[in-house]
Amino acid sequence: MAREVALLWWLMCGFAGLVLLVVSALWIYAMRRTPRQTTPEQAKRITLRWIIGGGILLPGLSIIVLLVFGVPIGQRMLPLPLLGEQPLRIEITGHQWWWEVRYPESGVVTANQLHIPAGRPVDLQVSSADVIHSFWVPRLGGKIDMIPGRDNQIRLQADQPGIYRGQCSEFCGTQHSHMILHVQSHSEDDFAAWLSARQSQQITAPPADAGETFVARCGTCHRVAGVSDGQRAPDLSDLGSRPTLGSGVLTNEPGAILTWLREHQRLKPGNAMPLHDDIDPTHLQTIATWLEGLEP
Ligand code: CUA
Repeated sequence: MAREVALLWWLMCGFAGLVLLVVSALWIYAMRRTPRQTTPEQAKRITLRWIIGGGILLPGLSIIVLLVFGVPIGQRMLPLPLLGEQPLRIEITGHQWWWEVRYPESGVVTANQLHIPAGRPVDLQVSSADVIHSFWVPRLGGKIDMIPGRDNQIRLQADQPGIYRGQCSEFCGTQHSHMILHVQSHSEDDFAAWLSARQSQQITAPPADAGETFVARCGTCHRVAGVSDGQRAPDLSDLGSRPTLGSGVLTNEPGAILTWLREHQRLKPGNAMPLHDDIDPTHLQTIATWLEGLEP
């Protein structure tokens, strides 16, 4: 889709360049020519000719030319029915300020990262849980609004395995810039391996009191497969494998989760997670270490 967008841009740029050349040539000609003497009758005819030719016919023709190449390109970007292999369906929900990513066919849920197979079309159904966000992965395609109560569709396809950056592109509050989506496209086999590893993940709660604290405090909002079932906040079942924390705020390196748990309101002010001042520091440490190990 990004390729079609680029093609359309270059065609429109070329056409606009042509218009600029023609207008400039006419302007130079008008400045250099010797004025003619005309009767009022002739002057009226000339004016009329400019209005019809330059004001109606020329713009009309230009719009037709733009539509002739623009409409088929726009058509090719639509998620129309396909013959043969069907697109993979993924549901993405925008939240202030993170991305919820669901694979309805396999029941896998993740957040702030989108794993897709390369070389296969992916139909993303996007919506929002709160305000209007906009889904955009510039190297893969155009933007699409994420609107509460409405499902929008966009079809993307990454030709090569690789990493692409996505970004919320509709101002959605103070942390709008910290709404970064990490898109990773895998070879078909690697993708299947990732999906089945996620499906068969066996997770046990952190040991002793820290485990109780996690379930009672964190688990009411966060889901960890087999441990807790909160639905308000990002699923943490594969938190250890995520490249960033807080949707692009911190690199997920050793120790970063503890930093995030202690300082998330300083790092990303206004995010929905309450402070953890009242949690025993050793419990917090145990929970952070446990979360670091959660990966498929
Ligand atoms: Cu979400 Cu901007």
